[in-house]
Amino acid sequence: MLDNANTFRLITLLLLSTLVASSLATNARVLIYSATADFRHDSIPTAIQALQSKQSSFGIQFENTEDKAQFTDQILAQYDALLFLDNTGEVLDDSGKAALQKYLNLGGNYIGIHAASDCLRNTTFYGNEVGAFFDYHPALQNATVDVIDASHPSTSMLPAQWHVQDEMYNFKTDPRAIGATVILSANESSYVDTGTHLGQGTPHPTAWFQEHGAGAEDNGSSGRSFYTSLGHLNETWQDELFLAHVFGGITWTLQSNTTLAFNASAQVGNPPASTSNSTSSSSTSILPTPSSSSSAIISCPSIDKFVAEFMIVIVAAYFPWLFRS
Ligand SMILES: *[C@@H]1O[C@H](CO)[C@@H](O)[C@H](O)[C@H]1NC(C)=O
Ligand SMILES: *[C@@H]1O[C@H](CO)[C@@H](O)[C@H](O)[C@H]1NC(C)=O
Ligand SMILES: *[C@@H]1O[C@H](CO)[C@@H](O)[C@H](O)[C@H]1NC(C)=O
Ligand SMILES: *[C@@H]1O[C@H](CO)[C@@H](O)[C@H](O)[C@H]1NC(C)=O
Ligand SMILES: *[C@@H]1O[C@H](CO)[C@@H](O)[C@H](O)[C@H]1NC(C)=O
Ligand SMILES: *[C@@H]1O[C@H](CO)[C@@H](O)[C@H](O)[C@H]1NC(C)=O
Ligand SMILES: *[C@@H]1O[C@H](CO)[C@@H](O)[C@H](O)[C@H]1NC(C)=O
Ligand SMILES: *[C@@H]1O[C@H](CO)[C@@H](O)[C@H](O)[C@H]1NC(C)=O
Repeated sequence: MLDNANTFRLITLLLLSTLVASSLATNARVLIYSATADFRHDSIPTAIQALQSKQSSFGIQFENTEDKAQFTDQILAQYDALLFLDNTGEVLDDSGKAALQKYLNLGGNYIGIHAASDCLRNTTFYGNEVGAFFDYHPALQNATVDVIDASHPSTSMLPAQWHVQDEMYNFKTDPRAIGATVILSANESSYVDTGTHLGQGTPHPTAWFQEHGAGAEDNGSSGRSFYTSLGHLNETWQDELFLAHVFGGITWTLQSNTTLAFNASAQVGNPPASTSNSTSSSSTSILPTPSSSSSAIISCPSIDKFVAEFMIVIVAAYFPWLFRS
């Protein structure tokens, strides 16, 4: 049945599908840190569940901890990004802060959500990595948030004027001052805030990104940083549009080229499957929380196979000569 040309086509297709399947087999590893020392948001479990429920469709493996002892050089270096969720107060001791600083210095990537701007308030490098420290918020109420940069993956799906029910955070400083790009801005005429907020600049910063997080000592070498101040309520974490915003920010952050997934000389991150030995299996035991051990290693061969088959259809459409006999 198969002549030489057909054999060649078949092998080419098999190679292509294997390549696609193996490139998808490696999940980016993200550590969710949700420890709190002051106010605790009751939406934290809802948020973690919402993030984990979508992880496999984004090729991400989330692990979560509230144990500050996990902040060591060795443990942090295994993650492509750290996601700080609703942290308040002194959630790290000095050695944890040193490990976080080193992680950022080595190209680590950072995502901060909602109250993540309200922890480690005296730690300058942390404030720079987030972009700005939280100052205060008026009462939870409905408000309009304007998309001021629709080209970012975290905002491209949002309506230009996004109606939300959330806390409109004010910040102590302007994140633009340390190089952040503001992408969402609270419309101050759309809600009531009788407080005084002068330091944060205009338009009102509500979400932003940094190509190189300013928390690293040499800020050219650090990875990406993304922060959104939205995310207060359980209902928010059940809203698909909000989740699309958050996952847009997470996936953008993970496309930083500072980790082992992209650069064999990088010093942090989850290495590609082909070069890692026991990294994944040893890592399962490192984080002790039940949710992390149960979901630590997500592998979806059936999805990979499906995607590979889908790719064959795409290849057939673009390279019909491969199929011609
Ligand atoms: C939010 O959800 C958590 C469970 O995930 C629940 O304990 C909490 O009471 C909820 N908060 C509100 C205000 O309903
Ligand atoms: C932060 O700095 C302020 C002012 O110096 C001080 O009063 C406060 O105790 C410090 N907090 C921590 C947790 O170090
Ligand atoms: C506030 O927004 C929510 C949906 O986000 C909506 O259900 C509610 O009716 C709004 N409330 C007011 C007072 O506009
Ligand atoms: C800001 O909110 C006010 C009040 O809801 C509205 O009239 C105005 O059009 C909004 N402006 C923008 C740019 O969203
Ligand atoms: C980071 O580098 C930029 C450009 O070199 C500089 O303008 C900025 O002040 C630096 N930020 C910090 C926190 O050092
Ligand atoms: C990595 O990203 C930085 C900043 O965007 C860029 O300057 C550099 O060229 C990138 N390197 C590669 C290999 O893409
Ligand atoms: C890869 O990472 C190393 C170590 O951080 C860095 O020096 C080098 O510039 C990176 N290479 C590229 C192509 O980005
Ligand atoms: C793979 O395992 C070998 C031997 O155990 C070790 O020398 C090497 O550093 C490992 N490579 C990676 C990427 O972990």
